[in-house]
Amino acid sequence: MKYNLSSVTSSTDSNLIVLPVFSDKESLKFSSAWDKTLREFFLGLPLSENFKASSGQNVFFNSIDGNHFLALGLGEKSKFKAENLRREMATLASSQKNKLRSMTLNLESLKTGDLEKTLNAIVEGIELSLYIFDKHLSKKSETKLKEINLDSKEKSAGIKKLQKALDNTIHITESISIARDFVNSPPNVLNSETYAKAVKKDVSKINNVSVKIHGKKELQKMRAGLFLSVNAASAFEPQMVQLTYTPKKMTKKTKHVALVGKGLTFDTGGYSLKPGGSMVNMKFDMAGSATVFGAFRAAALLELPVKVTCILGMTDNAVNEHATMPDSIVEGRNGKTVEILNTDAEGRLVLADCLDYACDLEPDAIIDAATLTGACLMAVGSETCAVMGNDDKLVGSLLKSAKNASEYMWQLPIIPEFHEDMKSSVADLKNIGGSRFGGTAKAAAFLENFIKNDISWAHLDIAGIGDSQGHLPYCPKKGASGLIVRSLVDYLKNA
Ligand code: BES
Ligand code: ZN
Ligand code: ZN
Repeated sequence: MKYNLSSVTSSTDSNLIVLPVFSDKESLKFSSAWDKTLREFFLGLPLSENFKASSGQNVFFNSIDGNHFLALGLGEKSKFKAENLRREMATLASSQKNKLRSMTLNLESLKTGDLEKTLNAIVEGIELSLYIFDKHLSKKSETKLKEINLDSKEKSAGIKKLQKALDNTIHITESISIARDFVNSPPNVLNSETYAKAVKKDVSKINNVSVKIHGKKELQKMRAGLFLSVNAASAFEPQMVQLTYTPKKMTKKTKHVALVGKGLTFDTGGYSLKPGGSMVNMKFDMAGSATVFGAFRAAALLELPVKVTCILGMTDNAVNEHATMPDSIVEGRNGKTVEILNTDAEGRLVLADCLDYACDLEPDAIIDAATLTGACLMAVGSETCAVMGNDDKLVGSLLKSAKNASEYMWQLPIIPEFHEDMKSSVADLKNIGGSRFGGTAKAAAFLENFIKNDISWAHLDIAGIGDSQGHLPYCPKKGASGLIVRSLVDYLKNA
């Protein structure tokens, strides 16, 4: 999409000029995009008679001089927040994408917070809603909508600032699209090896980023037994991808954040095989890695003043005669032994070694993201991200960032009883708890055993929120949501 930022009102024949209207109690509240003549003309149209400006109520009309207008109802002004704007713009873009070539929006007339925030919500809504995954369709869809004119009263200095905000938003939405593409890719195309290669290729164009890929030999050398046990039956090498973004100006005060992601390119469950119905869509089991990668990529493109390491643990969880058998006892990179009672609780095994490796890099904080437990959907619903950790300050910062990004996140407790439940009588730990209850936080309790030196750590379970969020107009009806990338970028901005 092409965005034209300008301080003069633009209009062309195929253009639609969007005129927001708010509703306050009984009366219509015309935004600054309307001038007096237009308002009077509109109110004289029979079409406007039943127009209450409630959200979703739209009236298209033509002026005498042939311009096309849309009176866009947005509901009560006092209730209109950035997230409302994001959703309204997504709905508008989706409904008009095959009808129009261009659209004109006035920034002041849609103001929520400052103008940069307004622009950010508009562009996110439009960009995220226009995403399509048509790589494997023989017939690609072409969107007619190609240009958005963003008009503003700002003079050139202000426009320059807005241009920067626009560029930054595009870095974020593009990173979300890439993350969605990875998640939507089928397992016969995206395996640990092709995934690692694709990530390496993608970051090769980004400044100040370095890549290291640890394959099977390196993982054996570092005694990452838990990670390797999940890969035992795979046709592909396990890949621990390590990305580093180093900001141009590094000082003693520069924070270092490590992002760790579960990258199961397919989860059959292993010997603890998933039933057919639950196995479908398990290509999505690498969404944690795609999410942290999306945030990492955006942070590097935004040139944030924070060092970011990204560790992606990639493998599939397959079954053959080499597959790890339930009851196996395996030693992790940190020397702790784990009784593997259920080979379907594999994500925590991969993450365990990745987290231990991340600790060795001595970051100020570690945040992992994973589609770790089905129980997460029971606990917080399929629309919410669960957050847990060993440091309430870090968890608090993440909750705040989620709020800033208008994404749902909720904390679950890691209580001593959950730690107790994850102990085994024949090994240091077992990989599943003794009961079905509290599965999400018990998995987090397991992970906490692999955090050392008191490093602040938080775990995000995105088993629900990472998948289809059809209720949001800026998420595809089916497939990866791409959510939580924006929360993480907000966190990194404020780190
Ligand atoms: N990848 C799954 C978790 C999952 C399930 C994500 C459904 C999204 C939707 C994970 O590896 C898994 O299978 N977890 C088990 C853990 C259990 C064996 C303790 C689960 O949730 O059933
Ligand atoms: Zn599993
Ligand atoms: Zn899994």
